[in-house]
Amino acid sequence: MILKNLVVAIDGPAGAGKSTVAQLAAKQLGYTYIDTGAMYRAVAWKTLQQGQEVTDELILEVVKNIDVNLQYADGKTKVTVDGTDVSAAIRTPEVSGIVSQVAALGPVRVKMVDLQRKMAERGGVLMDGRDIATNVLPNADVKIFLTASIEERAQRRWKELQQKGYDMTLEKLQQDIAARDKADSEREISPLVQAEDATLLDTTGLSIDEVVARILSMCQ
Ligand code: DC
Repeated sequence: MILKNLVVAIDGPAGAGKSTVAQLAAKQLGYTYIDTGAMYRAVAWKTLQQGQEVTDELILEVVKNIDVNLQYADGKTKVTVDGTDVSAAIRTPEVSGIVSQVAALGPVRVKMVDLQRKMAERGGVLMDGRDIATNVLPNADVKIFLTASIEERAQRRWKELQQKGYDMTLEKLQQDIAARDKADSEREISPLVQAEDATLLDTTGLSIDEVVARILSMCQ
């Protein structure tokens, strides 16, 4: 429907619904969707696989020899680590529990950002994360900062986890999300912050379709 090969950056805190709406918008635009959070999760997953105490040193060792690959096909993202499909394994609470520590480390970010920029080179991409508009793709054609109240974000994630069979209270999940927001926003390197030239889209009380429609209208 829209033929320009734009570069679209969507940033925002955990549970704002970025990946859900970004995937749907990418599909309608015929664009590639790039979930950068999945890449940091992939590094976190491989770190946990080592079966050792998670320290910065261990994470840095892991990132030296990791092959993270994202493939987007048929509206789905496939994430592989050294050839193993980890698309589901990177979504566990255990991975979520250490991913902010992983994403705060400079050498991890350098490697991931380099990959992300390469993936966006040809345009026609919709990339979501925390530092896309501010750091990864500062020249993006469209910049959106997607957010929602902490209560609503926790509710959305809780429903997702329930569907996958995880048993966690809403209260605990809200605390975890708040802690992750704080860590992501206060870290030294590329913290989560709204770019000056990004449009704020607060999705509290909006349906998925409404949010997608707003994103598409910004891409015309
Ligand atoms: O969006 P998500 O919950 O899958 O992201 C996982 C973690 O990765 C989150 O703690 C923030 C971090 N992240 C980041 O630092 N930079 C990005 N571009 C994307 C995610």
